[in-house]
Amino acid sequence: FDDRNSWPELEKQNKSMEDYYKVQNIVPESEWEDFLKACRDTLPTTFRISPVCTFADEIREQLKSRFTDLHVEDVEMDEDDERLQPPKLIPWYPQELAWQMSISKKAIKRTAVLERFHKYLIAETETGNLTRQEAVSMIPPLLMDVKPHHRVLDMCAAPGSKTSQLLEFVHAQCGANGVPKGIVIANDADLDRCSMLIHQMKRINSPSLLVMNHEAQKIPMLWAKSEDGKKVPLRYDRVLADVPCTGDGTMRKNVDVWRKWTPAQAMGLHKTQLQICTRAVELCEAGGIVVYSTCSMNPIENEAVVSAVLKRFKNCLELEDVSHELPELKRRPGLLTWKVKDRKEENKWYNLEDVPPNLKSVFPESMFPPADAADLHLERCMRVLPHDQNTGAFFICKLRKTADHMAPSKQKEVESVSVSEDTKTTG
Ligand SMILES: C[S@@+](CC[C@H](N)C(=O)[O-])C[C@H]1O[C@@H](n2cnc3c(N)ncnc32)[C@H](O)[C@@H]1O
Repeated sequence: FDDRNSWPELEKQNKSMEDYYKVQNIVPESEWEDFLKACRDTLPTTFRISPVCTFADEIREQLKSRFTDLHVEDVEMDEDDERLQPPKLIPWYPQELAWQMSISKKAIKRTAVLERFHKYLIAETETGNLTRQEAVSMIPPLLMDVKPHHRVLDMCAAPGSKTSQLLEFVHAQCGANGVPKGIVIANDADLDRCSMLIHQMKRINSPSLLVMNHEAQKIPMLWAKSEDGKKVPLRYDRVLADVPCTGDGTMRKNVDVWRKWTPAQAMGLHKTQLQICTRAVELCEAGGIVVYSTCSMNPIENEAVVSAVLKRFKNCLELEDVSHELPELKRRPGLLTWKVKDRKEENKWYNLEDVPPNLKSVFPESMFPPADAADLHLERCMRVLPHDQNTGAFFICKLRKTADHMAPSKQKEVESVSVSEDTKTTG
């Protein structure tokens, strides 16, 4: 629980990023200054209590009561101590399991109650009872409605904070020491990050986790034999595509975002994000759910990807209305339109019909807002912004696969994979 700011000298400014998001209208003009101020503020520390840990009730009670003997006015104040606040409940997270606190290192060292409490939090994290996780990063698994018997695929899983949440859902009935019927397969393309994921997941000690190292867009289809001996594809009830992204929504924690952000970054990732989300739908069982998420605010990485996938899987995929879920979470509807900017030239924006022939591969049709955005119900996507409830920014949407179907281009390839070839990639 080290909340030091590691880049204090960096300027939290990037004119290009600010101009870009003004044009995209991600917040009304009247909120712009509040939005920018929140983007520059330090992020509070947030953590989750595992619902399957034996001491969940005790930990919750400790968090509620332990600070009653702390009086902020008794602590010698300096600039840092302005952030001294007891733990606060995150109201939208179910069962009072998520908490946030803003306490500087100095205050912890000077205040015996805080120091004891800090040590207690570290010990509980090591045993897997608590998981430190950005508040907004807790949202995607909550929308997946994971049941203990589900086969769950987490396509881009490292370092695994969402995987741990998914595992907790699968263990909901049998408890931490039982063996659930369901399974979580956690995949990441980066081998070192897979090791980090395994290290993190050891705390949870579940027999229902399998870690895989593949490019998510090429995760092979697994096959099983049905009761009558037929070969059937083994699809997933729930798929999480928390894809690699520019991460500009993490600017409060990763201050380097301010220095490095360019519009070209999102364009470089769009194609991979589209491939991963396409594969997520292919691997999902009919009737199942795919949650697509990024920690980026950029429509090129978000609504553009989602609308291209919806078009690709027309008639068998739809965006679910999640407005009734997590009612206390403040969120913004997905954008119905956005602009595509030139990679280098300031003030140069393209409409689809203006893209010169030599740039068509750089600005593919999938980057542009579709004419039928309202029919696709892009407003059902959600964007959470830093000034909404003092968090990072995140984009999330919940897709329901309503029927069994595949993108025509992929159908042949997947059918050609035999049981003995099931490690061959098909994406
Ligand atoms: C946003 S992070 C995932 C965070 C993770 N879901 C969590 O909650 O802890 C994206 C991850 O995608 C991985 N990645 C990048 N390209 C990938 C690809 N083509 N296929 C699978 N994983 C990929 C990165 O190594 C990184 O760990």
